[in-house]
Amino acid sequence: MASRLRVAVAGATGETGQSIMDPLLANPEEFEVFALARPVSVNKPILSAFPARGAIVKSVDFNATDALITALAGMHVVISCLLGLHDKIQIALRFVPSFFEPACPPRGVMKARDRKEDMLDRIQLLYLPYKFINFGWWYQLGLPPLPSGHIQTRLDYALNEIMGDGEAPFALVDKRDIGKYVARIITDPRTLNKMVFGNGEVWTQNRILDTLEEMAGEKLVRRNLIKEDMDDIISGAYNILATIPRT
Ligand SMILES: NC(=O)c1ccc[n+]([C@@H]2O[C@H](COP(=O)([O-])OP(=O)(O)OC[C@H]3O[C@@H](n4cnc5c(N)ncnc54)[C@H](OP(=O)(O)O)[C@@H]3O)[C@@H](O)[C@H]2O)c1
Repeated sequence: MASRLRVAVAGATGETGQSIMDPLLANPEEFEVFALARPVSVNKPILSAFPARGAIVKSVDFNATDALITALAGMHVVISCLLGLHDKIQIALRFVPSFFEPACPPRGVMKARDRKEDMLDRIQLLYLPYKFINFGWWYQLGLPPLPSGHIQTRLDYALNEIMGDGEAPFALVDKRDIGKYVARIITDPRTLNKMVFGNGEVWTQNRILDTLEEMAGEKLVRRNLIKEDMDDIISGAYNILATIPRT
């Protein structure tokens, strides 16, 4: 047990955080796991359940440098599963910042990705050791609602909108696999100061929707987007995100 890797996870209660906590907690011989939680969330049932599974929960004010230094003392790895908006907090956390982005150009397409690239610049400028981990688009976010209601979605973007001819291959990942990949990446010395991309399947939008139609026996309404539509979507998203303050 003496050589266990001490891993702190910030944002352990979130979707990505839970996927990462599961394999770490399943391997107590290799990992000593700490869930960092902001004081306002420390009584959440999901956090209360972590100690029984072997994790140590630490309440920490992410905006207080001294408290963070204390909380992170002795950690080998710090993984952030916060949102891209929390970049000021993450600069303080460093090491494995919250990237987890689908394959995408580094800047100019997704504002959230731009902010994460800004963080990479800062981390490299400071010579901090890091592992930047990206994955494909989550399977769990990949299916549009079915007319019958058998699949419903709360997403505010339309998954039946096809980019161009729908034949561009793109990488996908099962959200439940993220933690397994992360556990391997943080223990692999070859990944130090590298950007690592992990994914499950590579499919096209047409193949996903064709398969869904075939399996569900339902017809989807598809809308093909041309370049101008996509430019509008990108600039609209940039405008919205520009109004959300960074924390
Ligand atoms: N590749 C993809 O398809 C894909 C899909 C989704 C997300 N992502 C990426 O994955 C990353 C995590 O997203 P997620 O969906 O897992 O997020 P999430 O489920 O919303 O979880 C966010 C976490 O951040 C914590 N948090 C929220 N506000 C905070 C604050 N002010 N201070 C400290 N902690 C705070 C929350 O903890 P509390 O319990 O305190 O609220 C929660 O644990 C993001 O970088 C996102 O872009 C990628």
